[in-house]
Amino acid sequence: MLEINDLSVSYGAIRAVRGVSFSVGKGELVSLLGANGAGKSSTIKCIAGALKAAGGSIALEGKDITTANPEQVIRAGLATVPETRDVFPDLTVAENLMLGAYIHRRDQAGNRQNLEKLHTLFPRLAERSNQPAGTLSGGEQQMLVIARALMARPRVLLLDEPSLGLAPAIVERIFEMIETLKKSGLTILLVEQNVNQALSVADRAYVMRLGAIATSGTAEEIRATSDLSAHYLGG
Ligand SMILES: Nc1ncnc2c1ncn2[C@@H]1O[C@H](COP(=O)(O)OP(=O)(O)OP(=O)(O)O)[C@@H](O)[C@H]1O
Ligand SMILES: [Mg+2]
Repeated sequence: MLEINDLSVSYGAIRAVRGVSFSVGKGELVSLLGANGAGKSSTIKCIAGALKAAGGSIALEGKDITTANPEQVIRAGLATVPETRDVFPDLTVAENLMLGAYIHRRDQAGNRQNLEKLHTLFPRLAERSNQPAGTLSGGEQQMLVIARALMARPRVLLLDEPSLGLAPAIVERIFEMIETLKKSGLTILLVEQNVNQALSVADRAYVMRLGAIATSGTAEEIRATSDLSAHYLGG
């Protein structure tokens, strides 16, 4: 479904991602783990078309999207929720959601239908439809950006640290929702620092360290890897 091959990302002279290869199969939930600065977000941003690859390739359903811009990537079927969790604060929740449906703007009936589905998944957003997005709590804003990404009707969803800075109860809710999305058949790449939570929902995981993949395996295998905390805390 998603194939990353020998991907490199640079910021000027700084090489943040060094020859990373991994894949996510159809309907799979794969987690990308690693310490601060390991290169997870750079990888995600590059797949999303927000950063240019310095080398390597990215393919979505067999189609090369290495040089695609963000809109082309979304049109190809891949939506991203960046770690910055940006909402348009002065627009209402409903208006924010409709912006996510930009590529389907000529299919208003389809958008309304999708919105109804998302309101079932995120009842809190339904209740707050007419509220400015800037007045939502952190957890609600996270749900909004996930729902907004889903308005593009992606087949693959990239989530960059959805649990960051949220209270445990909200994190729990977000992970339940991620499981629901997986059950619906969505293919998911989940970046997390919250290793235990991530491994509890993931089929497989890759651990990044210093811009490269240090370890990979099934969630079980990664959980059993005794030096996992070293990968983490050692950066
Ligand atoms: N805009 C930038 N300019 C220069 N260097 C950058 C930039 N963004 C990231 N880097 C560097 O690239 C490396 C990887 O950063 P990245 O954000 O991809 O890590 P991460 O794994 O997502 O970390 P975190 O868990 O803290 O989000 C780091 O060394 C970082 O300092
Ligand atoms: Mg990051």
